Amino acid sequence: MSLYAVVGNPIEHSKSPQIHQLFAEQTGQDLEYLAIKVEAGGFAAFISKYFADGGKGLNVTVPFKEAAFALADYHAPRAALAKSVNTLFIGDEETLHGDNTDGIGLVNDLQQNNSVSIQGNRILMLGAGGAIRGALAELVNHQPASITILNRTLSKAEQLVSEFGGLIDMRARDYGSFDETEFDLIINGTSLSLTGELPELEKSVLAGNTCCYDMMYGIEDTVFVAWAKHNGAALALDGLGMLVEQAAVSFSIWRGVHPDTAPVIAALRP
Ligand code: ATR
Repeated sequence: MSLYAVVGNPIEHSKSPQIHQLFAEQTGQDLEYLAIKVEAGGFAAFISKYFADGGKGLNVTVPFKEAAFALADYHAPRAALAKSVNTLFIGDEETLHGDNTDGIGLVNDLQQNNSVSIQGNRILMLGAGGAIRGALAELVNHQPASITILNRTLSKAEQLVSEFGGLIDMRARDYGSFDETEFDLIINGTSLSLTGELPELEKSVLAGNTCCYDMMYGIEDTVFVAWAKHNGAALALDGLGMLVEQAAVSFSIWRGVHPDTAPVIAALRP
């Protein structure tokens, strides 16, 4: 039996073991997938031991994605752009490979599961942390008309524009300098949903067709999803689909088979 795991801290509430178990059953793969908590400072030692003991692959979550990036010997191009790694495995010549499937997970959930296109659309991204960076690494490949990064700390938004803006039309704004309206797609990548807070937003950011997407999810609507529904967004989505889609891409990297995600999303939906 092949061993896989997700490593993070906290990790108790991770849905990844359930998701990968469902993928394994569906595709007839013999594997075990655990959730492992590692203390800050113990990550590098854990990685060496995990793979030395025969682990086949790892998912990495908060707060270790940047540390995983630093440890990997080889980075997939999208992980190099994201500067963070959520998928590890041993590749050729025993090198540690790092990939990042978060951005493609978001794009697959938008495009395939919800028929939301990115090409030609005006996108507003809320936040400028690791979650937004991972999303940008994939979004810039899909020819949006423009991407506005709105963040409390302007310098972090400007940093992302300097890194990704060569490829597409991008602007950085803080809440004081922001005055754009009517976006096609609004993605919340702030950590505010964790504390039940809402980014400061006028209703005028919505147009008739706007999709609002929260990268977080919960049993109840997140505050951003509730705000979007209340203000009449055409579509208000949480991040459960993204979670399953990023897991599916990791699974296919490790196992060479891409699972069908729809029944797994349905099984997890409360
Ligand atoms: P992650 O890796 O999950 O993206 P992060 O890197 O800590 O987490 O980023 C969190 C994001 O939420 C940041 O964009 C942060 O804004 P700052 O760059 O100004 O710190 C944003 N955020 C967190 N608390 C916020 C608040 N009270 N108001 C507005 N934005 C907030």
